[in-house]
Amino acid sequence: MSQLKPLIAGNWKMNGNKSLISEFAQEFNSQAINEIDVLICPPSIYVDELAKQVDAHESVLNVGAQNVSEQASGAFTGEISVDMLKEVKASFAIVGHSERRAIFGESPQLVAQKYKQALVNDITPILCTGETEQEREDDKTFDVIAKDINAVVELAGIESFKNGVIAYEPVWAIGTGKSATPEQAQAVHRFIRGHLAKYDAEVAQGVRILYGGSVNENNAAELFKQNDINGALVGGASLVSDKFMTICNNAQSSK
Ligand code: PGA
Repeated sequence: MSQLKPLIAGNWKMNGNKSLISEFAQEFNSQAINEIDVLICPPSIYVDELAKQVDAHESVLNVGAQNVSEQASGAFTGEISVDMLKEVKASFAIVGHSERRAIFGESPQLVAQKYKQALVNDITPILCTGETEQEREDDKTFDVIAKDINAVVELAGIESFKNGVIAYEPVWAIGTGKSATPEQAQAVHRFIRGHLAKYDAEVAQGVRILYGGSVNENNAAELFKQNDINGALVGGASLVSDKFMTICNNAQSSK
């Protein structure tokens, strides 16, 4: 890891419940975690509960959402706005997770709108990007990632990455138990930083780039040794507090 403060983010997807939230809020306190940022993104209906439990237990957990609307308000049945997230004290939002892109048809342009909508309203967006297995085989990994990043740069400018986060999540590694190797991940992270540097070298140096895709308590330490990996976006292993704590400890000791 570089000098950037690591961020370990848990994406609970459509899992979890109130008792898991209270367990996490109690365990992730300042005695356990003090040198890194830790974030949990539960299903949106539990964001409020997480924030309340964090307050009640003086937890160090940051609170985030898994998705946010690009619209401010109005007739968008089922959507959640940035104002609503802010009111319930969320400070991060994942945008463009590969499941949103693949299952819900979110385009790079729509994801860029969500990114901007979050950012200008003081919610830190975590932009997910990553290639499918086929795209990797076809040598298109960098093209796919550049396209996702360029959509944000075109809409929100390169400065928008001063306060944003990027998560490299190869689709073939998500939920498969088959993580990218530290070298594979580092190569893509380096590409991402280099790509941003073509627009602005300072912004590129300052942006946290998380790796996601089957990160667990056994492979995290090796991933965190890589120069351009500044943390992780964790799915399955973020649902088990011991495993997630081990990943956080690995990030703390890799600093
Ligand atoms: P995984 O999910 O850790 O279960 O592979 C990661 C993600 O989808 O963010």
